[in-house]
Amino acid sequence: MLSAKSLFQEILDHDESFRLFCSIAASGESQGGWENARIAALVPRSELALAPKITRHGADEDKHGRIFNALMKKRGLEPVEVPPETDYTMLLERHGIGLAHEKLKAEQPLTVPDIITYLAHSRVTEQRAAEQMQMLRKYFADHPDVGRAVRMISSDEDNHLAYAHEELLRFARAGHGRLIQRTLRECALAEIRVYRDVSLAVMAHMGRVLGWSRAKSAALAAGIHAVYLYERLGGWRRMVGLRMPERRDALGGPASAAPEFA
Ligand SMILES: [Fe+2]
Ligand SMILES: [Fe+2]
Repeated sequence: MLSAKSLFQEILDHDESFRLFCSIAASGESQGGWENARIAALVPRSELALAPKITRHGADEDKHGRIFNALMKKRGLEPVEVPPETDYTMLLERHGIGLAHEKLKAEQPLTVPDIITYLAHSRVTEQRAAEQMQMLRKYFADHPDVGRAVRMISSDEDNHLAYAHEELLRFARAGHGRLIQRTLRECALAEIRVYRDVSLAVMAHMGRVLGWSRAKSAALAAGIHAVYLYERLGGWRRMVGLRMPERRDALGGPASAAPEFA
């Protein structure tokens, strides 16, 4: 039977697929870490209070990158090069979603609309990350090798999402509501396409590594297209709403350490 659980079980069980999965994840996380560190360094004066939270956000993503690398190392595996068509973070940036790397590499302070762009990008991508980690947590929370990592990353991604909601609501109250809604919408509609394309690319690589039949690959691709259709027809709206999270100030304070991984 083809289920998300059996699919991930198969990926976790084989060294080559596990290595590809962890390499892709680690690379996305460390790119996120770098982006956040740069944004924190370039926060405009009026928003300095946000800087420690952005730093913490980046530190969490860096930690996730180290965790995925540590999981590989524990199994005696070296990271592999990430195929560009599976590079979610890079593809989003290429589609003009979030802040351009050009801008982040410069030394010019960001503006308030830039910070809103960053937060809207986070609102959308952290929802994706939180949902994916919740799915992994549901099936693998007690897995002997990856359980702890999955639980820790999942709780961090939930915090990132809560933080993005809370800060965007603060900017909405300050009169930026229209810009926020427009940016969220643009970001979500682009994200669902990139997510579909990356999912197809990742599954094509996994299919080759794991020797899947044509029928199995076709069924998986059909599933990915069905998810896209659902998201395009309205599922995307779940990524753009804003509501005050139960957990406030989720990124207040320093990042929790992960000494067993780092
Ligand atoms: Fe992360
Ligand atoms: Fe995150």
